[in-house]
Amino acid sequence: SFPVVVLISGSGSNLQALIDQSLQGNLDIDIKAVISNKASAFGLERAAKAGIASHALDHKQFESREAFDHALMELIDQYQPKLVVLAGFMRILTEDFTRHYEGRMLNIHPSLLPKYKGLNTHQRAIDAGEAEHGVSVHFVTSELDAGSVVLQANTEISSDETADSLAQKVHALEHIIYPLSVKWFSSGRLTFQHGQAVLDGEALPESGVRYT
Ligand code: GAR
Repeated sequence: SFPVVVLISGSGSNLQALIDQSLQGNLDIDIKAVISNKASAFGLERAAKAGIASHALDHKQFESREAFDHALMELIDQYQPKLVVLAGFMRILTEDFTRHYEGRMLNIHPSLLPKYKGLNTHQRAIDAGEAEHGVSVHFVTSELDAGSVVLQANTEISSDETADSLAQKVHALEHIIYPLSVKWFSSGRLTFQHGQAVLDGEALPESGVRYT
């Protein structure tokens, strides 16, 4: 079936959601490898437990961002994935890297893009007094968190919300919309044309599809 490589830096709960959905027969993908830039990432244990090849490629062992990204590309390409899934991969990527996987690399970002690119999105949304927050799946392009959005899900921010409680609510949504986006891509419904996410032949609006 459809070969995928997943990149992580941490817990890997989104990786787990992809593994679970494929085991349950809802998602026809073959996760060929999981690669982390941190050897301590718990997601590597999740991969091993699922019988998936796992690698730690420590960015600190490389003298430049370019050198790391090139080594990462070589490792990924050994598995010939049709899709690269960034699942909590906390590295800024070089243009060489993003160009190489253009149209076949997805990211999940914990905000309603184009709002709150970058880090600490939950706290920033609370501090700004937002009534709602959420998560976006998008194609990766060279500009950070700015590629065409595929799918978004939102949640209310309550009056006693903390960054932790909000992160939990957002995570639950992530575990639904990431497998769904990957399913759209692997089944050929989702493509990337002229810098745009296209679903069933229709270019998606700036905020993608809203999951309800
Ligand atoms: C997720 O919340 C994801 O949206 C976020 O990291 C977390 C990873 O969780 N990604 C980013 O912030 C990317 N800039 P996980 O390791 O449990 O899947």
